[in-house]
Amino acid sequence: MTRRRIGQTNLWVSPVAMGCWPIAGITSIGVTEENSLATIRAALDAGINFFDTAYCYGYDGESEKLIGRVLRPHREEVVIATKCGIGWTPDQKQWKDARPETIRRQCDESLQRLGIDAIDLYYLHAPDPNVPVAESAGALKELLDAGKVRAVGVSNFHQISQYESFHAVCPISADQPHFNMLQREIETERLPWCQSHHVSVMVYWPLMKGFLAGKLSRDHAWSPKDGRQKYPVFVGDQWNKTHDFIDRLRPIAARHHCPLAELVTAWTIQRPGITAALCGAKRPDQIQESAQAMNRCLTATDLSEIDQAIRDRGEVLSRAAVT
Ligand SMILES: NC(=O)c1ccc[n+]([C@@H]2O[C@H](COP(=O)([O-])OP(=O)(O)OC[C@H]3O[C@@H](n4cnc5c(N)ncnc54)[C@H](OP(=O)(O)O)[C@@H]3O)[C@@H](O)[C@H]2O)c1
Repeated sequence: MTRRRIGQTNLWVSPVAMGCWPIAGITSIGVTEENSLATIRAALDAGINFFDTAYCYGYDGESEKLIGRVLRPHREEVVIATKCGIGWTPDQKQWKDARPETIRRQCDESLQRLGIDAIDLYYLHAPDPNVPVAESAGALKELLDAGKVRAVGVSNFHQISQYESFHAVCPISADQPHFNMLQREIETERLPWCQSHHVSVMVYWPLMKGFLAGKLSRDHAWSPKDGRQKYPVFVGDQWNKTHDFIDRLRPIAARHHCPLAELVTAWTIQRPGITAALCGAKRPDQIQESAQAMNRCLTATDLSEIDQAIRDRGEVLSRAAVT
C-alpha cells in the first residue's frame, strides 16, 4: 500500500485520510455511534492508516473518544493527527485560544481521550488573533521536546509571515489548508512555501463538504441542522453552477466505472505537492468510495477534461471556516 512521508519525520501515511469531523455529530445529520465506529473500521480495512481529528470535534471530544476506542488495538499501524487551539464555550460557541497554557492542557486531555502516550501529528488548529504565533509555536515545541507529540503542524494560516514566525520557533512538518477542484487559492503562495520547506500538505474539504461527491440533487431539501447551508456555494446561483460542473465530471467517472467521490479524491491526491486528502465520512460506504481513489490512476485525457471544466466553472470564493 502506498505511503507518503510527513515532512522529514519517520511517519508515513496513506494519501487518503479519514476526516473525523462528521462523526462528531455537530453539523452532520444522521450520525450514529454504530455507524461512526463502523466507518473507522472500514477505513482501516480499506488501507487507510491516517486519521484526522481535533480537540473541538464534538462538544466533549466525541470524535477523539470514538477514534481511541477503535484504533487503540491498532496503535502501531496508524497515524493519529489531532489539533489544539479551538474549544467550546458552555453555550456551545466555538472560541480560539492558543495560549501556551491552553495548548498544554488540551494536549493532555486529547491524549487521555485517545488513550495513547503520544500524538503523532499535532496541529495548531488556527492562529489566535490575541496570541503571537511564535508564542503558540513555543508551546508546541515544548510538547515535541517532551515526546508528547511526534510532529507538529499548522492549519488555517493565510500569510507566509505566519508560517515563517512559527517555523523559526518550532519546525512545521505539515500544513492543513482547505483545497479542492474549485478552491485552489493555496497554489499561488502557500503550497510552494510548503514544498520548498519540506512541509507536507494535508488538505481538508476535498469533496467540498460532500458537494463534489455528486449525490446532492439540485432540489435537495436541507435539514435545518445541516451546517452546509451557511456556505455561499450551497445556495443560489453558485449551487446551480457547481451542479453544472459536476455534470461535466460524470462522464469521466463513468469512463472509469467509479463513483464521483473516487474520481475527485484521485484528482486531489495526484496534484503536485498534495500529500493527503482528508476525506470526511460518517458511514462506511462513504470512506470506502474515497479510499478507492488510492488505486485510481487518471489519464492525461481525464486531467485535461477536468482542467477545462474547472476553468469554465471558475473559482469558488471561500468563506473561511474552521471545523
Ligand atoms: N483544519 C480545519 O480547520 C478543518 C476544517 C474542516 C475540515 N477539516 C478536516 O478535514 C476533513 C474533511 O472535511 P469535511 O469532513 O468537512 O468535508 P469533506 O471531506 O469535503 O466532505 C465530507 C462529507 O461529504 C459527504 N460524503 C463523503 N463521502 C461521500 C460519498 N462517497 N458519497 C456522498 N457523500 C459523501 C458526507 O456528508 P453527507 O453524508 O452529510 O452528505 C461527508 O460528511 C474533516 O473531517 C476534518 O478532519 C479540517
